Amino acid sequence: MEKAASEGGIYMNIVYHERGRVFHLFNDSVSYIFMVLPHGGLGSLYYGKALRDREGFEHIFERVHRGMTACVFADTRSYSLDAIRQELPTYGSSDFRRPALNVLQENGSRILDLQYAGYRVMDGKPKLAGLPATYAEAETEAKTLIVEVQDALTGLRAELLYTIFATGGALARSVRYINDGTEVLHLQKVMSMSMDLPDADYDWLQLTGAWTRERHIEIRPLTTGITAIGSRRGHSSGQYNPFAALLRRGTTETRGEVLAMSLVYSGNFEMLAEVDNHGTTRLQAGIHSTDFDWKLVPGAQFQTPEAVLVWSDDGLNGMSQTYHRLYQSRLVRGQWREKVRPILINNWEATYFDFTEEKLLTIADKAAECGIELFVLDDGWFGARTSDYAGLGDWTVNRDRLPNGIDGLAEKIEARGMKFGIWVELEMVNEDSNLYRAHPDWVLSVPGRRKSLGRSQCVLDFSRKDVVDNIYGQMEAILASGKVSYVKWDMNRSITECWSHALPADRQGEVFHRYILGLYDLYERLTTKFPHVLFESCASGGNRFDPGMLYYAPQTWASDNSDAVERQKIQYGTSICYPVSSMGSHVSVVPNHQVNRMTPLHTRANTAYFGTFGYELDLNKLTAEEIAEVKEQVAFMKKYRAILQFGTFYRLQSPFEGNVTVWMSVSADQKTAIVGWYRTLNRVNYRFERVKLAGLLPDALYENSLSGARCYGDELMNYGLITTDGTAGEPNAENGLTTDFESRIYVLKAVE
Ligand code: DGJ
Repeated sequence: MEKAASEGGIYMNIVYHERGRVFHLFNDSVSYIFMVLPHGGLGSLYYGKALRDREGFEHIFERVHRGMTACVFADTRSYSLDAIRQELPTYGSSDFRRPALNVLQENGSRILDLQYAGYRVMDGKPKLAGLPATYAEAETEAKTLIVEVQDALTGLRAELLYTIFATGGALARSVRYINDGTEVLHLQKVMSMSMDLPDADYDWLQLTGAWTRERHIEIRPLTTGITAIGSRRGHSSGQYNPFAALLRRGTTETRGEVLAMSLVYSGNFEMLAEVDNHGTTRLQAGIHSTDFDWKLVPGAQFQTPEAVLVWSDDGLNGMSQTYHRLYQSRLVRGQWREKVRPILINNWEATYFDFTEEKLLTIADKAAECGIELFVLDDGWFGARTSDYAGLGDWTVNRDRLPNGIDGLAEKIEARGMKFGIWVELEMVNEDSNLYRAHPDWVLSVPGRRKSLGRSQCVLDFSRKDVVDNIYGQMEAILASGKVSYVKWDMNRSITECWSHALPADRQGEVFHRYILGLYDLYERLTTKFPHVLFESCASGGNRFDPGMLYYAPQTWASDNSDAVERQKIQYGTSICYPVSSMGSHVSVVPNHQVNRMTPLHTRANTAYFGTFGYELDLNKLTAEEIAEVKEQVAFMKKYRAILQFGTFYRLQSPFEGNVTVWMSVSADQKTAIVGWYRTLNRVNYRFERVKLAGLLPDALYENSLSGARCYGDELMNYGLITTDGTAGEPNAENGLTTDFESRIYVLKAVE
């Protein structure tokens, strides 16, 4: 195999084979191959296990005349795009599937003929203007291929970017459009990625849900026609996460081929698989085309968000681990990227809006006693915000509640040995606020029409720089003293009546995307100015949990549902694409505020350990025994959080398939593993049970922290870890001592 070595003996290359005009991107894990088609467009050939490079792959290209219904190019009388596999398909010239690009031209036509115009290869990975994206720190970490196609009639030029990384099966794609012509063009659909696969023998996996049940796993077979997900809510949404995967039939967590796509974007998106009537599958991801219309004047450019593809034949875990590693180390940025996260206490479920400084300090006292490191003051500290009807937009402290201001409270928290953090919701405004009274035209709304409210609030027009500047100024004033070391950035409603008072009619189709660009700009400015601050994004829990957010905020509050049993599903589903270090997870009070369920304190902690970990309750209401338990939990998390948050994470048993959930994290040296075992309903006199572990050293002898048993890695991975009641240092179910919602944490340490 012809290969180019990069530093450290890692192989990765991008080769162009002139004879068949074929591009081959490869590393040790994968090959991505496409070609210039006979008519000058770009054709998909292959994405999968690494193939040896050779003089070309044009023989993989397939073309069959499809009889009566196929339309052929008039000049050749034989060539049709019907069922031909393409990389940047357009509609209207013999391909009737979903296009990746729609451009309205001055004469009203949308027909395009994008012809190959050249390529260049660069070491590393370029930044995408104004957008979050994966990155390379050293030039040897990645290579990028930029292929140009151009439409002669309009002068529209597209640069397709393909980045392959030195290791792993990921490939990043995006497109930059440049208007090199003289007419005004309207981009009406711009997919970040489109590729056609030669068959359709796949199941489609998506992360689906709603508020308080985000990112549940759903799988269904592809059939002829379109399988699609998306968001038109103005945020990536808890309804559909911007992630989808194709699974070869029979794929499990540990075995089988997976091809996944993840969009680094926080706004409206669509993803689809279109199976045509000849069994090819078109895969696409990008900004949702509904209400999208971007005016591209001569000389202007448009950059699409990035889609990150991953191919793996190590089952779902193999695919997830590739995303985890890439997103943890080359999407998240800043000082917190590889740091373990502070154990926090948040007052929201403890007090909601009903707090005084004194009350907060009683919670802080107890938290400090338990070893908690960060106190987070949630909603209600600013303006007239004593309920959710007022105050958003006025980011000045409410002195009636906090007479010593934010800095004064922060000092008192610091005196107790903890850091201090605040909640904000910068994109929103209540009509009952000074900001709205001064600038009613700063909200998204259509003149003369009724506007919709969400949680009694309006959405600020972040497509406007003056609005973003104002909010930046207010936030800068709060963070300037350096007393705030954490910010929870919330967003609690979807966008409706998306119309900007500052843009002309022919640019209103840009507002949804410009809003997201404004949001990213604000994040960029705040994270650059205050690099020590840890940002946690949030949108009524996990309604904007996406890679775009992770670029700015290394962690996201995973859900407003803090019940441990519900959280097992949410965190299991979230881990399909996102690393444990990104999942905000707290121990909350029982009966749980969302589902009224009583779960044992240890199960709440055992679940939250596989996340950033914190508490969201009034510790003063716990018994002395419970406080002793909390202290142990905090100590346990401090000891093991590096492995829990940054180790290799394996899902072993799914909460979507049975009564028992199991997952584990393994240290980089594979000598320590932490297994989380969770059983929903209790059982009596049940069968023997075990679970096959993963990621251990086969020849190492591991000691089990609960039973004291010593087993070799190969036993644990092939016979399995015995979890039958009574064998793990736990009481027998027959004693009546275990309960519903039981759980255990096994720490396995190599002893030789
Ligand atoms: C929604 C968030 O998800 C909650 O955690 C809390 O911060 C509230 N908003 C506050 O309004």
